Amino acid sequence: MNYPLAQRTAVITGATAGIGRAIAVELGRLGAFVVANGRRQAMLTELSAELGGAGSVACVVGDCCDDAVITRVMDVGRYALGNPAHEADIVVVNAGRGLAGSAITSDMSQWEEMVRTNIIGAAKLIRVAGERMLAEMEAERLAGGGVFGETSKPRDIVVLGSTVGRHISPFSSMYGATKFAVNSLAEASRRELGPKGIRVTLIEPGFVESEFQGVAGYKPEWFAEVKGRIGPVLKPEDVARTIGFIVQQPAHVHVSDVLIRPTRQDYP
Ligand SMILES: NC(=O)c1ccc[n+]([C@@H]2O[C@H](COP(=O)([O-])OP(=O)(O)OC[C@H]3O[C@@H](n4cnc5c(N)ncnc54)[C@H](OP(=O)(O)O)[C@@H]3O)[C@@H](O)[C@H]2O)c1
Repeated sequence: MNYPLAQRTAVITGATAGIGRAIAVELGRLGAFVVANGRRQAMLTELSAELGGAGSVACVVGDCCDDAVITRVMDVGRYALGNPAHEADIVVVNAGRGLAGSAITSDMSQWEEMVRTNIIGAAKLIRVAGERMLAEMEAERLAGGGVFGETSKPRDIVVLGSTVGRHISPFSSMYGATKFAVNSLAEASRRELGPKGIRVTLIEPGFVESEFQGVAGYKPEWFAEVKGRIGPVLKPEDVARTIGFIVQQPAHVHVSDVLIRPTRQDYP
């Protein structure tokens, strides 16, 4: 069995369901130690059992916007492989939620939670992950290493945007506004951290069937019509496989921005 991500540690927020869970399974399958976060303990316990338990996975329950939770996931990632000098080197900023409708038609009582989760939570984790990766690289440099080259160790921050963060969505423009912000945040972070050797990757999926549609409040008959018209839509595993491919690239290769849609999705 080949484990191309052995010796790597992946922190994944929103790993209790959907795309995040599929990423945890895929990166675990490729040999990474997985630190999984989400708010539902029971689903984390189930994921942990699937990934083989304590030797391969650690779970941190809690809100991904909470500073203590962010510190905890990164601390657990740091100690995961038994070397406190080794920070998690794959951080997947995945937790997020949708919201059906526009500024006029969406449920306004959910705006703040969505903005907080999709933008503030994402920015906080990018910040902490970036700071820690940079500090580790500086320590390596002081210890005599540190010239970036083909033998360097890959470090990845992978951010889940959306096609509606690149193309205006007619049916979820409030959600789309948060993902336009995420798009900008990821690209700005790539420009800042890429020259230092950290890959910040933006993944922009189209329709993926998951808990997302229910949380966002799409009517089941609306989504059934979408699936009838443009399906089959993506499965979480399709996105996870793409991320597995990206993080396996050598450190000097960066697949930095991937828009992945169901083949028959015309728009957005
Ligand atoms: N599905 C799509 O069509 C689609 C398309 C483009 C982009 N995306 C993006 O892909 C990402 C994952 O979406 P998905 O389809 O997998 O949705 P999902 O099935 O609803 O899963 C969302 C995950 O995020 C977690 N989560 C939500 N709020 C959280 C919080 N405050 N703290 C910690 N965890 C939280 C949920 O777990 P708990 O409830 O246990 O906390 C769950 O594990 C999101 O950023 C989404 O915007 C989805």
